[in-house]
Amino acid sequence: MRVIAIVNQKGGVGKTTTTCNLGAALAALGRRILLIDLDAQAHLTFHLGVDNSTLERSMYEVMTGRASVAETLVQRAERLDLVPSHIDLAGAEIELVSQLARERILTDALAPCRDRYDYVLIDCPPSLGLMTLNALVAADDILITLQPHVLALQGISKLIETAGLVHSRLNPRLRIMGVVFCMFDGRTTLSSEVLADVSGYFSRASDGQTLMAGTRVYETRIRRNIKLAEAPGFGQTILEYDATSHGAADYRLLADEFLAHESDKAPKPAAAAAPSADTVAPSPPTPPVESPPSDAPPAAEATAAPHEAVPPTESPDAADASAVADLSAGAVPSLSMDADATAAQDCPAPASAADEGASHGPMAV
Ligand SMILES: Nc1ncnc2c1ncn2[C@@H]1O[C@H](COP(=O)(O)OP(=O)(O)OP(=O)(O)O)[C@@H](O)[C@H]1O
Ligand SMILES: [Mg+2]
Repeated sequence: MRVIAIVNQKGGVGKTTTTCNLGAALAALGRRILLIDLDAQAHLTFHLGVDNSTLERSMYEVMTGRASVAETLVQRAERLDLVPSHIDLAGAEIELVSQLARERILTDALAPCRDRYDYVLIDCPPSLGLMTLNALVAADDILITLQPHVLALQGISKLIETAGLVHSRLNPRLRIMGVVFCMFDGRTTLSSEVLADVSGYFSRASDGQTLMAGTRVYETRIRRNIKLAEAPGFGQTILEYDATSHGAADYRLLADEFLAHESDKAPKPAAAAAPSADTVAPSPPTPPVESPPSDAPPAAEATAAPHEAVPPTESPDAADASAVADLSAGAVPSLSMDADATAAQDCPAPASAADEGASHGPMAV
């Protein structure tokens, strides 16, 4: 079982859409998938058509020690399970404030599931608070979703700094496996410039055995596609909602690339890497500043989701910084680190070649 945290403290950058549809595409390729909705907004739960008002248990009960993952999960489709969320989870951070090792709750909750799944995908909230910290401590890998616009670049160094702290103090297995561009429009100059900057940044950062060894900017870019925005309103994954859409093709392709990358990976080092090397992130790229591209898509295409359910949110800096500040101050207790656990992990066989040959041209709706 590999645990992948899908993270970006910036809101509205495709974390939930990617968790849902990458998970569905991996399940379609025969992998056993557990999706964790770790966001009190419960967007992933909604996206998958699970009515949490009728459920007795959710991630709130899991995180507060009242229920196990096995008791809480919903079997959503073949090989695709979900641990739903609930707004109650918003209160858990305060409830847990005095609990010892509160950053390890999710790690412990997932331990009994180890043989049951190939991949666990965690949809993180748009913050670097306690829930995201739990995800990073439980995870083997971080997958960052980015929307290619100027502001998308601003959070990266903070995110990497946080991941570096978790890696050095709490979870030496942690790696940043990659960056996926969502809502990409290859026709705009800005998208191309942001892509070039981010690619350069991660290739500079990837030297040596560090948190970012092997980080890739995925070649598959998830194009802006109205079907992806519509699917949550029907409680369906993109493969269920419109398997012929460009959105479905892109997430299938991403699943193929994800699995191919898994099989390429060199074995992870048995010993923890030196903390200092990993906590120093290179300077983030300078955001390109430009006027809107003349070939930008029409506004109607860009925003046409009939139920663009939730406007992108971004947590206040203070809230984002709280977990990092805890770590920096040494407030989170050090944990025993079982480096050998990495070697014992079950890594599924690579996928066959892409079953869809979607081009990555201009946006298709
Ligand atoms: N490729 C895409 N094309 C069109 N719409 C998209 C695409 N990806 C995501 N969306 C829409 O953009 C909005 C934000 O996406 P999503 O909810 O996945 O972001 P998020 O990072 O999880 O946001 P939050 O941080 O608030 O949880 C949603 O309405 C979603 O349906
Ligand atoms: Mg989300």
